[in-house]
Amino acid sequence: METKEAILNRHSTRYFTDRKVDLKDIKEILTLAQAAPSWVNSQPEHIYLATGKTLETIRQGYLDKSSTSHGKPELPVLSRKDWSKQGQNNMASWSKGVSESLGSDWQEIMGSAATKLYNAQTILYLTLPKDYSLWSLYDLGAFGQTLVLSATDKHIASMTAYQLIKFPDVLRSALPISDDEVIISGIALGYRDDKALVNKISSNRQSLDQILTINND
Ligand SMILES: Cc1cc2nc3c(=O)[nH]c(=O)nc-3n(C[C@H](O)[C@H](O)[C@H](O)COP(=O)(O)O)c2cc1C
Repeated sequence: METKEAILNRHSTRYFTDRKVDLKDIKEILTLAQAAPSWVNSQPEHIYLATGKTLETIRQGYLDKSSTSHGKPELPVLSRKDWSKQGQNNMASWSKGVSESLGSDWQEIMGSAATKLYNAQTILYLTLPKDYSLWSLYDLGAFGQTLVLSATDKHIASMTAYQLIKFPDVLRSALPISDDEVIISGIALGYRDDKALVNKISSNRQSLDQILTINND
């Protein structure tokens, strides 16, 4: 697949089929993600792969907690009202588009898919060492994006989501994550279920003019 095609074909997938992802493919995807740049080549990431029974334990833990708690990831979340005007406008316009695609019970549809961890058959949890440099967040983002593009190249769909890491206690009891690490992000991999309503969500981007300032004199 051409690079451009992989970039444009990657979409957040909020419901996967039951088809498993081959471990060989995941290892190849992760090896390609390791080609991402990082500060002085520090390569700060660690990846915990959850699948099979481990993932079912996590899924059950999420199901149990979802009725009583909103969750609290280890990486702090900023309230929407504290984001920049530009960020707030873009989030509002995305949410409007979602409600138009899914109908009035869009929050319930999305919430239900998230509680099932999008029916993912494999989830990768990305951690950083405690007391990480803020630059490592930049590096982990580059790693994550290279990962999902490499997955797209193999026709494997992906979902980078806060929802996947919002109950860190459930993750820590199922995975050997040490106290010296912080859980930063979750990326689900699998095969997209094209029949699922929640996968009708699409996204657009603000115009280039809104983010680009050219200086030439
Ligand atoms: C760090 C991060 C966390 C995200 N968390 C969620 C989430 O919890 N739930 C969700 O529905 N989408 C989540 N998304 C997906 C975004 O909504 C999505 O990337 C955006 O709307 C653009 O759509 P696209 O990925 O299909 O291009 C997250 C994306 C990123 C990069």
